[in-house]
Amino acid sequence: MNVLFSPTICENYLKCLDNVEDYKALRQAAHNMGVPSLEENACTALTSIVSIKCPKKSIDIGCGIGVSSYAILKGFPNTHLTAIDSNLERGLFFQNYFKEYENVTYYQMRGEQYLKICEEKFDFAFIDSVKREYFNIWQLIRQKLNSNACVVFDDILIYGYVMAEEAETPYKYQTNRKEVQNFINHIFSDSSLNAQIIPVSGGLLVISLK
Ligand SMILES: C[S@@+](CC[C@H](N)C(=O)[O-])C[C@H]1O[C@@H](n2cnc3c(N)ncnc32)[C@H](O)[C@@H]1O
Repeated sequence: MNVLFSPTICENYLKCLDNVEDYKALRQAAHNMGVPSLEENACTALTSIVSIKCPKKSIDIGCGIGVSSYAILKGFPNTHLTAIDSNLERGLFFQNYFKEYENVTYYQMRGEQYLKICEEKFDFAFIDSVKREYFNIWQLIRQKLNSNACVVFDDILIYGYVMAEEAETPYKYQTNRKEVQNFINHIFSDSSLNAQIIPVSGGLLVISLK
């Protein structure tokens, strides 16, 4: 983690308070497979947001093996969840893990491709794909949102480099940093939206339609 983005004052305290036991087994499976998964504090934040919104229809783009989907379903078990990931191996794990859930539908494809063909609209979306694709995904998903919908983007702070100067940012993060900065600025200057960044884990950008 970048020194510019050391844990927020309360992050370690939150970790002690949070009941993260039920995310642990899935996160351990992700760890064993060597695949990324949503951090525990981000899981509990996601669950809390969903439990407040009680969305009828949700979508999880970049669902991986399913930690974020699990967090969404924990927040509102009755939501109809569409989960999407472009990776075959993670998709096989996901489909096996959630096979008893009648309200979960999985597609192995790119989120952008799905959004271009889907005819559904959503009340809640969680996006955790490649960060430089966030702007494009936002423009596609914006057309597929019901009124009062809420969208959460994970890891929006790019290890803290979004807040750093370009000269302080390692070369490999510079393009990502610039594109995510542009995306954040676009969202915060759109008067039809409420937006805030919640500084847990890698930073959650929470957007809701006014
Ligand atoms: C950080 S991991 C997701 C972890 C997952 N949310 C979880 O909590 O278990 C990012 C995932 O996004 C997927 N991905 C990347 N770009 C994508 C895209 N354009 N459409 C769909 N999935 C994508 C990758 O295959 C990867 O599994």
